[in-house]
Amino acid sequence: MDLLTLAHYDGDWIKNVIKESEKIKSDIDSYRNALDGKILSMLFMKPSTRTRVSFEAGMAQLGGHAIYLDWRTTNFTKGTLADEIKCIDRYSDIIMARVFEHEQITEIADAAEKPVINALCNLYHPCQILADLQTIHEKLGSYKFKLAYVGDGNNVCNSLILGCLKVGAEISVATPCGYEPNLNVLEYGFEHGLHLTTDIEQACSGADIVYTDTWVSMGDESQKEKRINDFAGYTVTKDLLKGAFFMHCLPAIRGYEMTDEVLDSEKSIVFDQAENRMHAQKAVMLELLNDKMQ
Ligand code: CP
Ligand code: NVA
Repeated sequence: MDLLTLAHYDGDWIKNVIKESEKIKSDIDSYRNALDGKILSMLFMKPSTRTRVSFEAGMAQLGGHAIYLDWRTTNFTKGTLADEIKCIDRYSDIIMARVFEHEQITEIADAAEKPVINALCNLYHPCQILADLQTIHEKLGSYKFKLAYVGDGNNVCNSLILGCLKVGAEISVATPCGYEPNLNVLEYGFEHGLHLTTDIEQACSGADIVYTDTWVSMGDESQKEKRINDFAGYTVTKDLLKGAFFMHCLPAIRGYEMTDEVLDSEKSIVFDQAENRMHAQKAVMLELLNDKMQ
């Protein structure tokens, strides 16, 4: 079993992972040896702060070990992806990878016998959304909420649509024209009640949570100027928030996606999201390894 996208899982699976994550978070001492002797290989084609550190720290806290592999300082740039992964697979119990194209993570999963975790691709960011749903569940005590996503219809937005709708929450998405979420995700979304608009006020009306992400994702740097122009008017302000919780997966560009006032406000739960990455990923690793052993 792999975690490549939340599209492969139902709401019960997601809620169970979050339940396990909440248990681990509240009683880490009972899990100190849960991954004793296990090896996680972490392959990064793109930079990372939270994903790298939360996986590495999480693995250490469960008694396992994580190996960091930078794409550019390995022979992944020389051999084929499949051949290099088949070697990593022999040394590892789990593999996680942050890649560009979604096809690269599926190629890794096809080549590996061990469970593979998508640590972000251009299309999805499932680990982020498990942590986000846990954060919301902790704050609101329920999955009955309305989330408004404002900004780029990117990997985070795609996974948020899937995650929110699967656990039974409402989601409205406001993007500028040309920055809509992935078509397959939209198709699933529209079948399950997604509301898509270009109007941020409309999307945020009645929302319990307002979520945004960077306007310039990793790999989009050459379009920075164009994107800043295209996203003008999509900044989350205190007036737009109207008392809702504020979420952002980070890294954030202050003054673009949201004002300082919003990011620093009491309603901002961005650092709880970041912390929950570690707990949720522990639960994911336990779930994938347990499934493998059955
Ligand atoms: N949110 C997130 O995935 O952060 P990093 O890119 O720093 O890992
Ligand atoms: N959409 C962002 C998410 C970063 C965690 C990116 O892909 O860079």
